[in-house]
Amino acid sequence: MPAERFVEALNEQVANEFAASHQYVAIAAHYESQTLPQLAGFFYAQAVEERGHALMMVKYLIDTDAPVKLGQVAAPNTSFADHIAPIRLALEQEQTVSGQIGDLFKVARDEGDYLSEQFVQWFLREQIEEVATMTELLDVAERVRDFPMTLEEYIARERPGGGRADPTAPEPAGGGA
Ligand SMILES: [Fe+2]
Ligand SMILES: [Fe+2]
Repeated sequence: MPAERFVEALNEQVANEFAASHQYVAIAAHYESQTLPQLAGFFYAQAVEERGHALMMVKYLIDTDAPVKLGQVAAPNTSFADHIAPIRLALEQEQTVSGQIGDLFKVARDEGDYLSEQFVQWFLREQIEEVATMTELLDVAERVRDFPMTLEEYIARERPGGGRADPTAPEPAGGGA
């Protein structure tokens, strides 16, 4: 079994990933209600990705005979000043998660838990992409601030965040169902 401190921290991160997923659903629903379907679709897909991260962590706990403890998930933010505010919130969220994953890595290293350290490495790498995707989207959104339909066209054309399937990604619990 992984180090006890790591198991505790990973269970907390499962809740953080579900909270991120929850927030992205809230953002997507907000955009859908504003009839901005490309932004909505982008954030619904991000929500599924975050849920996937949570399930990869659950699978690791199951495979290493560690207890799975699903904690509480806070209510997401649902009121936004304008159509750019959710993207700014998303970037802040990804930066926060990068810090959380870094802390998780440190627990594994401090505990001398090499397998867990290796497990967390994929998520560290993934965060580079996640932060970059949101940074780019915010850049474009601010550049075309008064023309949300131009932002919609950009997303339809460039498919931000729609990278290739990553064969090195850890397996999720339930086999991705
Ligand atoms: Fe994530
Ligand atoms: Fe993310």
